[in-house]
Order: sequence, then structure tokens, then C-alpha cells
Amino acid sequence: MPDLLIAQRHPAHLDRVVEALRLVHETDHYPMVWPDDPIAWLTPAGMLDAWIALADDGTVVGHVMLVAGDNVEHADQLAAAAGVSMTGLAGVGRLFVTPKARGTGVAAALLERVEDTPSRRGRRLALDVVDDGGQAIRLYERLGWVRVTTGPASWTGPDGVRPQSAAYLCPR
Ligand SMILES: CC(C)(COP(=O)(O)OP(=O)(O)OC[C@H]1O[C@@H](n2cnc3c(N)ncnc32)[C@H](O)[C@@H]1OP(=O)(O)O)[C@@H](O)C(=O)NCCC(=O)NCCS
Repeated sequence: MPDLLIAQRHPAHLDRVVEALRLVHETDHYPMVWPDDPIAWLTPAGMLDAWIALADDGTVVGHVMLVAGDNVEHADQLAAAAGVSMTGLAGVGRLFVTPKARGTGVAAALLERVEDTPSRRGRRLALDVVDDGGQAIRLYERLGWVRVTTGPASWTGPDGVRPQSAAYLCPR
């Protein structure tokens, strides 16, 4: 892995995070619809904490966020599978890595930081992901995340259709 710093995100980073998100959206259509207000999309209600990955020249190459568990799709089934109440879950979201920085473990390093964070306060980590068999699904399964359920998302894509979303629990 090239020199990489994982740092807690601060408001001063947000413009650079938006630039990184723009590159990801242009390459991968993530998010499927470009938000009217990207900074608001990056600071949703229920956000608990967020981190960025910085290359040695200060470029933001990755991002991840921790949110309250009820923000995750299929939260009821996730909480039941984990044997906790909804407040016993924390969601991992807004994970992305810029195209040129991929395949070097940046996403895995961001997820490791989320797993180790005190902001987690013992909550079980969960996430939802579009069930397209793509890189994100491969990443989570390679890191041992366990699929709990799949079903239509609560939101619609640009075609007006609800994509299938898969929900996962972190084993650790
Ligand atoms: C999903 C995503 C975050 C993965 O980021 P990443 O930093 O490339 O992830 P990693 O480097 O940890 O793993 C990617 C691949 O590189 C491989 N890899 C990781 N470190 C490596 C290394 N040092 N040497 C060689 N290969 C390596 C991994 O095995 C993996 O291979 P695979 O796809 O065949 O399983 C990125 O593709 C992305 O931003 N996608 C668009 C946004 C998105 O879908 N986000 C998820 C929302 S739920």
C-alpha cells in the first residue's frame, strides 16, 4: 500500500471529499444520483463519525462514515440476527475510494479504522449495499462480513426502480 493516512474527517476536509466523490460518481455511478447538496449527503442525520484516507500529497482518496443503526436498510432483520436492539447497531456507510487509489487496500484500511473506533461504543457494525455482485460486495465478503438478508431498497435509482439491497453484519 502506498503511504496512506487515515484521519478523522473535519469540516475543512469536506470540499476535498466532494471532489473525490465526484470522481467516484463519474466512474461508478456511486451515488446513483448525484446529490443536489453533496455536503449535506456527506453529513446526514444520524452521523456518528467519519474518516478520510489521505495520500502523501494530501489528496483525499477515500472516505467512510459511521451512522446510527436505524439508518441502515433492513435494520430490523439486522438487529434480530445480531440479537441486539436497533440502538445496539451502528451502520457503516458512504464508503468510497477514488478510482486511481483502488486495489491497494484503502477500503480495507478505512473499515479497520471503523471497527477499532471508540465512537462505536460496543455496537455491532452493519451495512447495506446494492446487491450487484460488484467490488463492494467482494470487499465485504473477503473481510468476513456476513450477509443477513436482501430486499428492495427504500430509495429509487434514476430509473425510478428500487434496487435490491443486501444487508451485512460485521463478525467482529
Ligand atoms: C468498493 C470500493 C470501496 C473498494 O475500494 P478498494 O480500496 O479498491 O478496496 P480494496 O483495495 O481493499 O480491495 C479491492 C481489490 O484489491 C485487492 N487488493 C487489496 N489490496 C491489495 C494489494 N496490496 N495488492 C493487490 N491487490 C490488493 C483486493 O483483494 C480486492 O480484489 P477483488 O476485487 O478481486 O476482491 C471501491 O471500489 C469503490 O469506491 N467503489 C464505488 C463506491 C461503492 O460502491 N461503495 C460501496 C458502497 S456500499
